[in-house]
Amino acid sequence: EEEDEEQSKEESSEEDTSSEEEEEEDNATETGGLKEAAETKQEVKLEQNVAGPDEQKEAIPARKTAQSKQLSEPAVFIPVDRSAEVQEARLKLPVLGEEQVIMEAVRENPCVVICGETGSGKTTQVPQFLYEAGYARDNRIIGITEPRRVAAVSMSHRVAKEMNLPRQVVSYQIRYEGNVTSDTKIKFMTDGVLLKEIQKDFLLQRYSVIIIDEAHERSVYTDILIGLLSRIVPLRNKKGMPMKLLIMSATLRVEDFTENQKLFRTPPPVVKVDARQFPVTVHFNKRTPLEDYTGEAFQKTCKIHRMLPPGGILVFLTGQAEVHSLCRRLRKAFPFRKSSTAKQKKTVSLPRIDLDNYSALPMDEGDEDREAGIGDEEDGGSDLELGDDPAETDPSIPLYVLPLYSLLAPEQQAKVFRPPPPGTRLCVVATNVAETSLTIPGIKYVVDCGRVKKRYYDRVTGVSSFKVTWTSQASANQRAGRAGRTEAGHCYRLYSSAVFGDFSQFSEAEITRRPVEDLVLQMKDLNIEKVVNFPFPTPPSAEALVAAEELLVSLGALEEPPRSGRMTDLQRAKLSCPITPLGRAMAAFPVAPRYAKMLALGKQQDCLPYIIAVVSAMTVRELFEDFDRPARSDDESSKLNQRRARLAQMRRLWAGQGASLLLGDLMVMLGAVGACEFAGCTPKFCEENGLRNKAMVEIRRLRSQLTNAVNAVCPEVGVFVDPKMAPPTEHQVLCLRQIVLAGLGDHLARRVQAEDMLDPKWKNAYKTTLMDDPVFIHPNSALFKTLPEFVVYQEIMETSKMYMRGVSAVEAEWIPQLLPQYCHFGPALDSPAPWFCSSTGTIRCHRSSTFFRVAWQLPAVEKE
Ligand code: CDP
Ligand code: MG
Repeated sequence: EEEDEEQSKEESSEEDTSSEEEEEEDNATETGGLKEAAETKQEVKLEQNVAGPDEQKEAIPARKTAQSKQLSEPAVFIPVDRSAEVQEARLKLPVLGEEQVIMEAVRENPCVVICGETGSGKTTQVPQFLYEAGYARDNRIIGITEPRRVAAVSMSHRVAKEMNLPRQVVSYQIRYEGNVTSDTKIKFMTDGVLLKEIQKDFLLQRYSVIIIDEAHERSVYTDILIGLLSRIVPLRNKKGMPMKLLIMSATLRVEDFTENQKLFRTPPPVVKVDARQFPVTVHFNKRTPLEDYTGEAFQKTCKIHRMLPPGGILVFLTGQAEVHSLCRRLRKAFPFRKSSTAKQKKTVSLPRIDLDNYSALPMDEGDEDREAGIGDEEDGGSDLELGDDPAETDPSIPLYVLPLYSLLAPEQQAKVFRPPPPGTRLCVVATNVAETSLTIPGIKYVVDCGRVKKRYYDRVTGVSSFKVTWTSQASANQRAGRAGRTEAGHCYRLYSSAVFGDFSQFSEAEITRRPVEDLVLQMKDLNIEKVVNFPFPTPPSAEALVAAEELLVSLGALEEPPRSGRMTDLQRAKLSCPITPLGRAMAAFPVAPRYAKMLALGKQQDCLPYIIAVVSAMTVRELFEDFDRPARSDDESSKLNQRRARLAQMRRLWAGQGASLLLGDLMVMLGAVGACEFAGCTPKFCEENGLRNKAMVEIRRLRSQLTNAVNAVCPEVGVFVDPKMAPPTEHQVLCLRQIVLAGLGDHLARRVQAEDMLDPKWKNAYKTTLMDDPVFIHPNSALFKTLPEFVVYQEIMETSKMYMRGVSAVEAEWIPQLLPQYCHFGPALDSPAPWFCSSTGTIRCHRSSTFFRVAWQLPAVEKE
């Protein structure tokens, strides 16, 4: 699912159409009228501060007044013209009851933590409280960060609608798009967007408040932002430009923020919002968990729909493919056609379900209840208390099935918030997107597969893989909670309570399980030299920080540290290498450092348009459809075979011949992008040729975004990317291969030579500098048959074997020229080949070659 997050893409949605209809409110005059009143109120407020009990009482009165003056914001009231309907709905939200407490805490503290169950109204209401209290006056704006793009977009639309303000006032900004204008007062954005803004203006002077939403998710950027803001806020206050920080979390586990001395010397106050959560009965599966949890989810959903009273169903699965497959099955089982709901009722034929599997115990809360965490081990009783009178539900009611995951187009996503067509039951099949960031109305039943898909990265080997693992208890309870928003509900867990007992209590912070070189580079660009001293809510390991600094040094982004004897990781991490001019250029590109290096070098030999295309393609996770999946029927199998053959044919075509073939998989990507653009990037072309249209559209966006970034960094180059680029010349292909090597230098692999091959498992295998195990070129790779002696790879994915992805061939003599930092120059060794990768990760070579250092210019292409 992380994959989804990374690549999440939103089509520009309805914001263009609606803004004209909505009238811009003339706030200016109203604010003017309120100003005097506001000022008097402020004085009153300040006096109260002096007189009333205050946490900052220790300070001497005079200073205290000064301090209060700085910290307190004027108590004003900016009216908002909400419809009666909206107002009524708002009043039901638990967070409304805490408005006074929250606003008082905000006025009196630079930083406040707000905890409240998902759905309690934090995201939609707190920005409105701040707006009404005048935090969006004087050209200052209220910023809210979300870890997910889906949430940033949909929440901005929602708040604009609630406040009856146009979307250029309540706006959003995500990686590729936004509708922020000079009139913007409330800005929803992804955390990555704010991080970039901090690089441009460290004090974030446009903002009066920053709200970090969904802090419990512990996404890397959220963590970094909290660390940065813990410094920015006091700085702003010292400079007399008061700023507030609000951290909002759906769980009460906030000690990492509040009890972290490095982060906040005075722990910020925590405001708890008591959610009006209805009881949710948790039912565990009796049986040991099955492999086929999608099938199990199907069964359970059918049973709920057939036997239980009305109420929406929300099913949690782990990934997009699963979501679609379950949606298909459910739609087939309970067909729904828009035009003929009424007719459908009579004609629909239902699959037969084995009712004997279940006992029909009346559902009695508090008796058969098994609340999360207090379940009895034996899961007693039936595995599914689908009690109630089955006759209560008309089984012929169609099921209105909707998928929900972050890659889904926003129009599709928006559907889940609208009431289902009359006479149908809503069933949303979702990934963990629906866990906390979005609240779907009307859900009464939750089906939880208990799993989550996560990207795992092995720092030592550099191997990454997606693994479906058990989720945490905290997440499972969040999922269950989705059933009790509007009335008492039920959560069906497709696993036993014993298994639940073995879940980890909380999900670990993302920062502890991914490489951090991109973050280290961003921080260095912010002139934070000693990253090891940065106030991370959860610090990454010293080992990870050292690995990141080493990679950045080898890429030339950081200055080389002074050489000294043996050091521990922590000692080395403390060395802190300053950023180089190349590093600054690289930090300006919104891609990982290895790719940023390629972009920085790409201007040579007119290679930039190709490098931009290749980097865009490498950043988007998968261009090609996966036809290697097992088929469910003979019919499907023959279709898959056909499409697989077609894709293989296209891959060969795109890989080209002769010189271009050596660029390998990157040439295939380039060819695919080029061909697709010539065909207008249509879904039809993609479908026919085995390309993922979503990925290709994303690449197009990325290409134009990276082009802008490159032009901003080196305006003298003035690249213009013609979507329809001509294929690179042979000369350019040679350059491209060298640029790729310069960026992916630490991902060099050498084919195991016949004489070294002691074990048959090394047949056609490659040895990398990072690990002892053999790695392979995938049969789908353009270089599968060529098997060049040296290759670089984009990454290693572990599936049935360790496979290199994104392989490109390297000429041996380029290595000492382009990667001297990895080479060991010494006297000739008694080695059959002049080059080899030793298990310690060094590449040795003879002194006889002439060496060049890669900086901004590439050495001449001709071999010496
Ligand atoms: O942030 P938190 O989870 O505390 O709640 P919220 O996202 O502010 O949602 C408050 C209420 O607004 C929920 O009951 C949602 O169902 C509702 N909402 C909605 O109906 N449509 C949206 N697009 C967003 C929120
Ligand atoms: Mg929220």
